[in-house]
Parts: sequence; C-alpha cells; structure tokens
Amino acid sequence: MNILVINGPNLNLLGVREPGIYGSRGFEDYLDELRKRYSSIKIDYFQSNHEGSIIDKIHEVGFTIDGIVLNAGAYTHTSVAIADAISAVKTPVIEVHISNVHRREEFRHHSYLSPSCVGVICGFGLDSYRLGVEALIEMNKKDNKETK
Ligand code: DQA
Repeated sequence: MNILVINGPNLNLLGVREPGIYGSRGFEDYLDELRKRYSSIKIDYFQSNHEGSIIDKIHEVGFTIDGIVLNAGAYTHTSVAIADAISAVKTPVIEVHISNVHRREEFRHHSYLSPSCVGVICGFGLDSYRLGVEALIEMNKKDNKETK
C-alpha cells in the first residue's frame, strides 16, 4: 500500500505553533513513529502553504496511490478548489484535523472538503493521522476481498 499524508498551511510549524492547541511535537518526529508502526506501508509526506500546490499534488498522485490523509488546515474552511480536486481524482481522501474543530470558533465548523472525502477524523491530536491511516488500511482490505 502507498499512502500520502498532505499537510496544508501553517502545519510546517507544528511543535512551535500554538502548542496549547496543536501540541509541542514536530510533525517529522511523529511521521518517523508512524512509518515505523506501519512499516509494511509506504507513507509519503507533502506539506505546502499554497493552495495550488496542494491541488497539483492531489492531481499528481490521485489516480495511482491507495489513499490520501489530508489536513488542509485553514483551507478546509475556504477552499472550493481543493474540494473539487478531491472529487476529481480516484484515490480516497480522509480529512483529518488535530484539534476538535467543532469545539472551536464557528468559522471552523464548516468544511468545504468533507462532502468530497470518504470520512473525517478530528480532535485526537496527532493520533488523528494514524486513525486516518487505519481507515485507509481497512478500506483497502475490503476492496481486495471484493475483487478476489
Ligand atoms: C486544523 C484546524 C483548522 O481550523 C486550522 O486552520 C488548522 C489546523 C487542525 O488540524 O486542527 O490549521 O486543520
């Protein structure tokens, strides 16, 4: 299996940025642990602060890999263009958030992306990404059974 984790704007500052909300661990460090835990899976990583680059990446991998775990950061609440990109590709996308966006400001309660995604995971800290990976693994197992 080949999975891509995409982080959107400001998530390059994890560990430094608002640690009360997002924790004090850097993402690269967490990613090491995730890759060790799922050593039979190829987990690639892409981070960008630019909407168009995120869209380009979704197009690039969205017809070949098995799944995308996407934390689009604030673009979640603004981007019809990223929603359209997710709908345009074949690869299933799981929307994740570190914080429980529904316990925060009202503008974070709406996601343009959720209707285009397979599912949404939020509020479990960095563990939200692992839960996203787990969901993709289970979906992949099911698909393999159905095609056999
Ligand atoms: C976030 C929640 C968003 O509202 C925010 O803009 C982020 C991070 C999260 O992971 O909790 O940048 O996606």
